[in-house]
Amino acid sequence: MDMEKIPAREGNHNLKDYERARQTFSWDSIKSNFSWFETGKVNMAFEAVDRHADNPDKKDQTALLFSSPDREEKLTFDDLRRESNKFANVLRKYGIKKGDRVFLFMPRSPEFYASFFGIIKVGAIAGPLFEAFMEQAVRDRLQDSEARMLITTPDLLKRVPQADLPALEKIILIGEHEETVDQYINYKVEMEAAANETEIEWVDLEDGMLLHYTSGSTGKPKGVYHVHNAMLQHYATGDWVLDLKKNDIYWCTADPGWVTGTSYGIFAPWLHGVTNVVRGGRFSPDDWYHTLGKYSVTVWYTAPTALRKLVSAGKETVEKYDLSALRHILSVGEPLNPEVITWGLKAFELRIHDTWWMTETGAQLIVNLPCLEIRPGSMGKPIPGIEATIIDNEGNELPPYQMGNLAIKKGWPSMMRTVWNNHGKYESYFIHGWYVSGDSAYKDEDGYFWFQGRLDDVINTSGERVGPFEVESKLIEHPAVAEAGVIGKPHPERGEIIKAFITLNDGYEDSEALRDEIRQFVKTGLSAHAAPRELEVRDTIPKTRSGKIMRRLLKSWELGLPTGDTSTLEE
Ligand code: WT7
Repeated sequence: MDMEKIPAREGNHNLKDYERARQTFSWDSIKSNFSWFETGKVNMAFEAVDRHADNPDKKDQTALLFSSPDREEKLTFDDLRRESNKFANVLRKYGIKKGDRVFLFMPRSPEFYASFFGIIKVGAIAGPLFEAFMEQAVRDRLQDSEARMLITTPDLLKRVPQADLPALEKIILIGEHEETVDQYINYKVEMEAAANETEIEWVDLEDGMLLHYTSGSTGKPKGVYHVHNAMLQHYATGDWVLDLKKNDIYWCTADPGWVTGTSYGIFAPWLHGVTNVVRGGRFSPDDWYHTLGKYSVTVWYTAPTALRKLVSAGKETVEKYDLSALRHILSVGEPLNPEVITWGLKAFELRIHDTWWMTETGAQLIVNLPCLEIRPGSMGKPIPGIEATIIDNEGNELPPYQMGNLAIKKGWPSMMRTVWNNHGKYESYFIHGWYVSGDSAYKDEDGYFWFQGRLDDVINTSGERVGPFEVESKLIEHPAVAEAGVIGKPHPERGEIIKAFITLNDGYEDSEALRDEIRQFVKTGLSAHAAPRELEVRDTIPKTRSGKIMRRLLKSWELGLPTGDTSTLEE
């Protein structure tokens, strides 16, 4: 498809001269924006919260504008400092110290953000878990990380395993709970008793801050480990890409259980001291437009899957709302359809800026900048300080228009520093000094990158990353299921949906009721977003001679594509 190029938008962009910035920028040059520049000792929570609360002009500014169907609340930077201080004191009371893992399992709420920064203030490592996770997903992550403490709600406590978590000492409950168990701590009681001031634990730039579990095509979810140094890139991209200015009202729609919800739902906006809108509750077009209008959101970071739903809701819906404050829109998580960009130009009279990055990369790498033209369908260009290329399987760089593996020169500030408990896995991401993303792409002769798909079996459903192995493992726990193979199947609104192929154990017969039951089993055992929307019973599942499920083949059959090389197929 040959789409019109969309010229750079007029206006006072924070980054005006991309080419010059690429030539002259060095990561060292932005260190002077931070208070630790001279001592080298740092804490992300200080930079994002306390620094603003210490500034008489900023301390009473709204930091968090929280809104959900049953609750609306504003926290100033001063409030956020006090609440996170208190929580840090609670953690210390129970012996939490630098390097300990403290996990959060709860819906978005003001308490989430206070706890999150409290964890970081004591130098511990925060592990946010998506609220929709079910028991197995929670268990895998708490076990692997050996979390010492978990903060959750009485509602979600039902999905926290009661056994097999020897490292887990205490559970902090936000909300009333009848049972008095030694392990449980009441958030409200502790917070009321805690002092307002705390000593921040000053750490090194390379000390750990955050663990985000994410899925690959094999094995259990892996703990991607991020350090305080990431703030350099959160700050720089907040400036260049989000184009944040001090009076902005910013809204990132992602949940902090995923990396977009931390890097760009917490760090980037608050490093810049802007007002951050957090909306809880479910998606609906009217609700989202209402939120944009009600809070006069100026900068909005969202995802293609939501944008596609807004397109479906039609022009009548968007026209009901006053979105005149909106000046900048960005997207991440999956390919941004050119049609959505075209629609954005009409519906909002704004360009929608695609950004590409991953849990492992910690921050944006390839983006559409306000100062550059947009080529619809392209992810844009690497930010200053980042070298991106396309390589083949041996690590050789490929010329323009040749498809290969999208790779980034190792060593950017927000790069993961290890995979928890599995440094070998971390090392396997790199070849000849390049971080290999697993995404296939090409670049054009002007240096724009064009996403083509995943090179592995990772599924991207509504912007959420799902590992087929995890779903297969859950499926075969069901007594009726003998074998399972799971693929992503293209879907117009969700990007991909999960389709599972299974074989049945003796004594079971295919029926709609059984298939429903099995889907429900994954949904309640693992999580709703990982449950297969389609389930097909087969006589056999194709495997290699070494017993690996041939998902590629299942996918080719499903999509009616040529099956390619099947020489390794088991007889
Ligand atoms: C995978 C990473 C960190 C952002 C949230 C997702 C896909 C991400 C784009 C984009 C096409 C994209 C890639 C990537 N992806 N952004 N702009 N265009 N695909 O983080 O869960 O770690 O997933 O999402 O396949 O590898 P994630």
